[in-house]
Amino acid sequence: MTPDELIRRRDDVAAEHGPWVGHNIHLGHGVYTIAERVVGAENTAKHLLDLIGAIARKPVDRLRILDLGCSEGLYAIEFGLHGAEVVGVEGRSAPLARARFAAEALGLERVRFEQGDAREATEARYGRFDVILNCGLLYHLDAPDIFRVFENMAGMCDDLAIVETHYAQAIAERYEYKGEEYFGVSRREHEDAADATVRAAREWASLDNAYSFWMAKPSLVNALVRSGFAAVTECLYPAILSYGDRETFIARKGEARPLKAVPLPGIFTDRFLPPVETRRPLSDWVGQDHVDNPATTPRYFDTTTRDLDVMRRRLDTMDGRFDAVDQRLDGLEGEVGAIEARVTAIGQRLDEAVPQIGRLAGETERLAAYTESLQGSMNDWLKGLWTALNTATAELGRTREEIERVRIAQRRPWFMRRRS
Ligand SMILES: C[S@@+](CC[C@H](N)C(=O)[O-])C[C@H]1O[C@@H](n2cnc3c(N)ncnc32)[C@H](O)[C@@H]1O
Repeated sequence: MTPDELIRRRDDVAAEHGPWVGHNIHLGHGVYTIAERVVGAENTAKHLLDLIGAIARKPVDRLRILDLGCSEGLYAIEFGLHGAEVVGVEGRSAPLARARFAAEALGLERVRFEQGDAREATEARYGRFDVILNCGLLYHLDAPDIFRVFENMAGMCDDLAIVETHYAQAIAERYEYKGEEYFGVSRREHEDAADATVRAAREWASLDNAYSFWMAKPSLVNALVRSGFAAVTECLYPAILSYGDRETFIARKGEARPLKAVPLPGIFTDRFLPPVETRRPLSDWVGQDHVDNPATTPRYFDTTTRDLDVMRRRLDTMDGRFDAVDQRLDGLEGEVGAIEARVTAIGQRLDEAVPQIGRLAGETERLAAYTESLQGSMNDWLKGLWTALNTATAELGRTREEIERVRIAQRRPWFMRRRS
């Protein structure tokens, strides 16, 4: 394709299926799917290329690789450009169309992209592989799918499985699968109300499951080993940009051989990591103290122990708060009891007081009537007194007049007066 043709066809694909969002691929002639700059996933591509190039049992150009949840196909295309045969499996049609266009533009005939559900990727469907990539996918899957996906991966893998994933650092849930326990935390992928169209449009989320289940590191390791991988390691180098809770786990197929130098029974019969909260020291496994050396004890023990300590502290704190609330409720119950007793006592006193109040009211009425009648009598008496007084006063006046008259009648001339 000429540069113009390349650009026109790239833009046609973008117009029909949406633009490239995560995988920046050089299509040739200086034309990129996103832009001529580092976008981010290139770092993971380089990490995977160096890692697999260093540890795979075959050279890269002889590898058959399965890329689960391949999205826009950067990793598949990178390995294809190094000569590997690659099958990319992606659940969504839009990123798949972009991946197919890029592979076609680069003339990669040994790179094939299939639309499919990674949860159903089996040997019967895709064949066997030297390397299986499960990058940026596991943390979008729910339980029990994560366990089935590991089992399927182990079933079709001859050499390596690369699980580049987030994992749980705080443990909230226990999940049982095939009688074994796993610890982790559920994470929301889609709202329950989101329909299939909405879920499909969220290209970097789970295909359809509303929750994903992030396992704690020991659980993740145990799940890989129980699925049929012989060894699980963490990749420290080639380095990858760290998110703090995300790593590349290397699961390797291998043959279990009996120990020849010490042919005794009971050596490492339990080869799984202990469930997080019943951790046994490594010395328990082999009966020798020197093995439980903090310097050689894997870091994830510390991590999970710390996580559990944090959770225990939180639970203790919550317990304490519940105790305090209980105590306050007890106190309040006592206070309510006392108030109820007082209300009852007041009720009783009111019951007793009501008849007395009735009696007092009758008494008061009687007194009022008596007072009224007394007032009437007093009025009559006062009126009588007034009349008698008036009569007496009038009588007195008359008497005075009579006396005066008699005095005048008895008055003698001077010469008739006797000396006393
Ligand atoms: C976060 S992206 C990672 C893409 C790519 N592997 C990377 O590391 O850059 C997750 C991809 O997995 C796809 N995916 C999620 N669940 C899937 C499933 N059950 N089957 C197939 N693809 C799935 C999504 O559509 C999305 O393209």
